[in-house]
Amino acid sequence: MGKPFVFLINGTPGTGKTSVSNILRSFGFQIFDINDLAKQGGCTETYDSELNTEIVDEECLENILEEMLQTMDGSKPVGFEGHLVDLCPPVYVMHCFVLARNRKDLIAEYKSRNYNGRKIEDNISAEIMQECYLASVDAFGPEKVSLIENSDLASTARKISSKIQTLFSGE
Ligand SMILES: Nc1ncnc2c1ncn2[C@@H]1O[C@H](COP(=O)(O)OP(=O)(O)O)[C@@H](O)[C@H]1O
Ligand SMILES: [Mg+2]
Repeated sequence: MGKPFVFLINGTPGTGKTSVSNILRSFGFQIFDINDLAKQGGCTETYDSELNTEIVDEECLENILEEMLQTMDGSKPVGFEGHLVDLCPPVYVMHCFVLARNRKDLIAEYKSRNYNGRKIEDNISAEIMQECYLASVDAFGPEKVSLIENSDLASTARKISSKIQTLFSGE
């Protein structure tokens, strides 16, 4: 039994992780939403009332991921999407795709989500500083991380799919 072949989809909220993952699922890829795993595993903690955000107990989520991956083999790629994917044990991670999106569209997305001013600012600043990208590079090394400008959902999904297939087939 080979070790799991994991790919990750990271990015600031609103960059299109879930939408791109849904397209990839329609291609046949199995992808878990890391926030769902945190909730189902009882890893969501206190509530940040100012930012209107649930807080994830990272150690709890790390344990859940480790346990899940121990039951999987490398017979097909398995994906995780969400902005906490850096918690995935690096030993299994074959590639991490970090989505980026232009500021204007991100702000419009945050407004439609009714984020307050502070939350919009925090997220836009995280996007400008490329926080997700830098955290992923830190976790997995630069050669395992690609930053993808997600200007078109379908073309982003195609790029990711083709990279995974290349890596999985060992070319
Ligand atoms: N490149 C894009 N072009 C058009 N719409 C997009 C693009 N990226 C994201 N969206 C839209 O923005 C919204 C938020 O995307 P979502 O996939 O939920 O982001 P995330 O999971 O990263 O928070 C969705 O309605 C999605 O369809
Ligand atoms: Mg999402």
